[in-house]
Amino acid sequence: MSTPAPTAAPEPTPTADAAAAVVVRGVERVFHGAKGASVTALTGIELTVHDGEFVSLIGPSGCGKSTLLRLIADLDEPSAGDIRVFGRTARQARIDQAYGIAFQQAGLLPWRSVAANIELPLQLHGMGSAERRARVAELLDLVGLTDFARSYPDQLSGGMQQRVAIARSLAEQPRLLLMDEPFGALDEMTRERMQTELLRIRAETGAAVVFVTHSIPEAVYLSDRVVVMSPRPGRITDEIDVRLGRAAERGEDLREESAFFEGVTAVREALHGPQSSTPGTARGVDVR
Ligand SMILES: Nc1ncnc2c1ncn2[C@@H]1O[C@H](COP(=O)(O)OP(=O)(O)O)[C@@H](O)[C@H]1O
Ligand SMILES: [Mg+2]
Repeated sequence: MSTPAPTAAPEPTPTADAAAAVVVRGVERVFHGAKGASVTALTGIELTVHDGEFVSLIGPSGCGKSTLLRLIADLDEPSAGDIRVFGRTARQARIDQAYGIAFQQAGLLPWRSVAANIELPLQLHGMGSAERRARVAELLDLVGLTDFARSYPDQLSGGMQQRVAIARSLAEQPRLLLMDEPFGALDEMTRERMQTELLRIRAETGAAVVFVTHSIPEAVYLSDRVVVMSPRPGRITDEIDVRLGRAAERGEDLREESAFFEGVTAVREALHGPQSSTPGTARGVDVR
């Protein structure tokens, strides 16, 4: 007896996801302690970061922000769920150097000059020396450190060291930057300057950014979208579209504008609930 020929399944329509920088589906991360105790650091995480989009992850200390970023970077593996970076597995994306990473500590090599630190990833991946020199010059210019090319990290301020780390993360022209509180160790004024700098760099490179912070104003100033997380277990509880205009057009003045304050209020309410206008009610979240 013949069975009817199966009708051809329609071609799957390419979804917006296929072009996305990051797609996180149903991700969970459980850490198992030595004595059988376990911590659910993340559960039910669904997140899409579009190509060229700037997304901040915000939430109190311990809600799993760093864990989520480390999973995307393939520095750790989810207990369940799936992560894609430009349509590739997180592992493949790491092998392909599809992203640059910058953390709270600049992590520079003290025995290498500023230029040599920025050059390192290019050297490791076999770029020729003439090409390397040209690229390093470009990056030094981008972060405003041309005059410090021959300096060593311990001769620089914290803000300058962080600019070197950002230049290094941009060395291979990644379409995605993963940043974990990169300005967390800086004083407030330097931090605001660095934020403006990052917006400018991002406008020039068009890279997508996943940016971890616990500062509400920082998240609002930088982001297209702020993803709000809550702890125990770490999950996404809200997402706020920030509409402050294109990165290239955001200047220091923005911090005085009502749209900025509205964004700050919206994120604060998402973190603490609408009743709470009292600063600092969620532990570990910076409302300055
Ligand atoms: N390697 C690890 N082993 C055990 N527990 C961990 C590990 N990394 C993170 N955690 C736990 O997972 C939770 C989330 O941590 P983390 O992602 O660092 O939070 P955040 O960056 O938001 O402050 C915390 O409870 C933390 O103690
Ligand atoms: Mg963290």
